[in-house]
Amino acid sequence: MIVPASTAAIESAARALAAGEVVAFPTETVYGLGADAADPRAVGRVFALKQRPATHPLIVHLTSVDEVARWAADMPPIARRLAARFWPGPLTLILRKAADIDPAVTGGQDTIGLRVPSHPVAQQLLQAFRRFGSGAIAAPSANRFGRLSATCAAHVVDEFGDALPLVIDGGPSDVGIESTIVDVSTGRAVLLRPGAIDVLQLAEVLGELPGVANARSPRASGTLASHYAPAAKVMLVEADLVAEVVRFLIGEGKSVAVLARTAGEPLVGSLHWLRAPADAAGYAHELYASLRLLDRPTTDVIVVELPPQDAAWSAIADRLARAAADR
Ligand code: TXA
Ligand code: MG
Repeated sequence: MIVPASTAAIESAARALAAGEVVAFPTETVYGLGADAADPRAVGRVFALKQRPATHPLIVHLTSVDEVARWAADMPPIARRLAARFWPGPLTLILRKAADIDPAVTGGQDTIGLRVPSHPVAQQLLQAFRRFGSGAIAAPSANRFGRLSATCAAHVVDEFGDALPLVIDGGPSDVGIESTIVDVSTGRAVLLRPGAIDVLQLAEVLGELPGVANARSPRASGTLASHYAPAAKVMLVEADLVAEVVRFLIGEGKSVAVLARTAGEPLVGSLHWLRAPADAAGYAHELYASLRLLDRPTTDVIVVELPPQDAAWSAIADRLARAAADR
């Protein structure tokens, strides 16, 4: 059930969390599927709902940096600097976990992902939940494993239907794509997942570019080759070639949808054509909603115009590449 984010609704959601239930809630990045991070059974319900493998850890959402000490063994200086600059906001820090954290949350790893969200409803929910419970909400994105994240309440319901008793509606998520994940557990910063905060912004704080993830970096499901995927096949195509590719696919009898940015619309038979914003922030804000709209049961192929290749677009390019990856 979708409930508008009134004070009363947020309070009852906090009580539901304290009772071990799962609640979907808005954050500035995407909607989260939340459970009490201190209750392994509640966390288990999130994994079951999402059909997510147990080895993929969840992000624990906190009201402020002051709560980190309860969840992480330590906070290296670079972690403090990143938190001071970007929290509350779309940054997840991977830290060494505190000794007594249940392995359900961390997927059995010795690190933990922590984030202080800036969305006012997420903040109010966390504050209320501090009065009734642990105040820490373990939440993956509110979508079935491998699918597109949800950026509004209706999309959460599209994913889970009646299986999910409560979705708090806080309107569309501002950012629209998932948080930037930086592993700081070794005292060095390594980028695990690009997001709204780009590498140049990280570098301003770090004094150097973050390291890049390699085979020894911690697992992150958002870093699987195929992820964030619609049901239809996604093809990434350069602007100049969009019209030609579309004509070819239609000639093959395919039902085609297009997410264009600069490419002009070709005059061909029936085509589901969407124009995306020209700026990276606007594009990210609408990306998942656009892909959901174009991903009709009858759509065979979604042709997406390749994004520009600069830092501000790298998270978008990353998500599109994963949406387009072979499954
Ligand atoms: O913006 C976001 O991060 C959203 C909102 C709800 O906060 N959450 C989100 O959660 O995207 P999820 O579970 O869909 O993606 C979290 C990613 C996963 O790829 C997970 O593997 C990784 O974070 N992760 C969590 N804890 C980790 C850890 N200890 N080590 C490495 N990766 C971790
Ligand atoms: Mg996810």
